[in-house]
Amino acid sequence: MQYKRILLKLSGEALMGDRQYGIDPKRLAEYAKEIKEVVNKGIQVAIVIGGGNIFRGVAGASNGMDRVQGDHMGMLATCINGLALQSALEDEDVHTRLQTALEIKEVAEPYIKRKAIRHLEKGRVVIFGAGTGNPYFTTDTAAVLRAIEINADAILKGTRVDGVYTEDPEKNTNAKKFETITFKDVIEKGLKVMDMTAFTLSEENKLPIIIFDMNKKGNLLKLISGEKIGTIVDI
Ligand code: GTP
Repeated sequence: MQYKRILLKLSGEALMGDRQYGIDPKRLAEYAKEIKEVVNKGIQVAIVIGGGNIFRGVAGASNGMDRVQGDHMGMLATCINGLALQSALEDEDVHTRLQTALEIKEVAEPYIKRKAIRHLEKGRVVIFGAGTGNPYFTTDTAAVLRAIEINADAILKGTRVDGVYTEDPEKNTNAKKFETITFKDVIEKGLKVMDMTAFTLSEENKLPIIIFDMNKKGNLLKLISGEKIGTIVDI
């Protein structure tokens, strides 16, 4: 296996499946099955999930809402997604712990790094909710931050595009996919992998980012097994 401990970043929107809003139980169950396959191989899995299927702070702010208020709503949205994912994983008999950056003790454990690592060592999937717990930071930044804290080997960003392309593949069919690319080249070519805060945090800490299509069955396990799936961004 290529990696021992991974941080999987899932977007909230991905949970919508074909819906316009909220959570598609079918998609959620598919993700749980994909994650279970990897856990069964003895890989330690931590997950950060976005909240865009329920609420986005930036979108709220562009409609006149106070940004901090909007971001707090977004953080709560990630907790809702975290609870849903926890439930779906437990339906698959995967042991999980949900830890949140904002305290909602009756619902989930507070984020404690050392406890998170112990859970991972015991084979539990740890889901981190409420982003970084701070407004103005994305869940991509939360994912990188948690990945560094728990000493993950890599951050796996599951998206609906299967890697980083020379141009937007949804707009230009001639766009070419990179198998690997350096952090420096991503910046020089003006490509988008994550927001700059998340991206530079990853680069500074030499944490590789892998962009891959999470909606393709079996991709997560293939990637962990060392198959060339998606694009690896590394130093
Ligand atoms: P070990 O120390 O390895 O035994 O971990 P553990 O998580 O099983 O032990 P603990 O006694 O801390 O937790 C037992 C259960 O309570 C688990 O399902 C935890 O997720 C849950 N739990 C622990 N702390 C909290 C908390 O602050 N809030 C909530 N809601 N649940 C908690």
